[in-house]
Amino acid sequence: MAESGLYMVYRGLMLPKVAHTEESLNFLQNFRVEDDDVFAVTYPKSGTTWMQEILPPLLNGGDLTSVETIPNWDRVPWLEETRASVVLDKLPSPRAIVSHMPYNFMPSSFFKSKAKVIYVARNPKDVLVSSFHFHQMASFLDDPGTFEEFVDKFLSGKLLFGKWTDHVKSWRNPELGDRILYITYEEMLQDLREVLGRILRFLGRELSAEALDRVANRSTFKNMKTNKMSNYSLVPENIMDNKKSPFLRKGIAGDWKNHFSPELDAKFTAVVREEMKGSNIRFPWDED
Ligand code: A3P
Repeated sequence: MAESGLYMVYRGLMLPKVAHTEESLNFLQNFRVEDDDVFAVTYPKSGTTWMQEILPPLLNGGDLTSVETIPNWDRVPWLEETRASVVLDKLPSPRAIVSHMPYNFMPSSFFKSKAKVIYVARNPKDVLVSSFHFHQMASFLDDPGTFEEFVDKFLSGKLLFGKWTDHVKSWRNPELGDRILYITYEEMLQDLREVLGRILRFLGRELSAEALDRVANRSTFKNMKTNKMSNYSLVPENIMDNKKSPFLRKGIAGDWKNHFSPELDAKFTAVVREEMKGSNIRFPWDED
């Protein structure tokens, strides 16, 4: 396991040392996935925290207690992070777990299980913008440099969890069959209630209309921004400085238009298009 500055390199993947250690990755590899576990998998900055708000009440009949009393990282832990070994076996069943890992980094028990996965994708240009600001506020990540420099970093995958295109493609593995549901951040923005309904059907669960409204209302950007258990204000300022850029920053689609010059846009689009060629994956933002 190699190391460089703020990151460790695990099977070629750059992981921030603040939350990833040799022990946490051993825990990941040896983790026993249960058939009723529910994973939300994302490339960073694609809606992970949002899923951490949504999944517990969808799985427990609409009870918002955990969302209001437990920090997001303990409520729905990352499988690869250090908190996993502390909190995962104390979670109520069915467990909701998040992960930024590419498909082939999942533990072997995952592949033998029936555990379901919700994969959330977001327009990579907005992912990049969100990540750029995140790198400015998080002291455990490298300084992003200029926006132009950060675009190069993003396209070459020299940042946490590697390339966006590799991540998205890895999770399109046909072996997953109907164990996986693909949704987008943009669909959640457009009609959260509809997406919640889709998730419930996928998980084979039901919720009353009233409970569904409650969950949707609790997980709006505005309400999450004031939820101390989800807005990262519990993290010391020297680790995450919400004054530099709030973690829940804008919560919109299309902010990339305020950051990309036409030249950068053309360069970014060409690289992503080339790497997605032949994958048969189409996203609503492909024509943007
Ligand atoms: P922005 O920086 O564009 O605002 P992750 O949780 O995967 O790190 O992703 C963080 C991004 O998701 C941030 O994007 C954050 O504001 C956005 N986000 C989190 N909760 C949201 C919500 N309820 N509605 C809209 N966007 C949300």
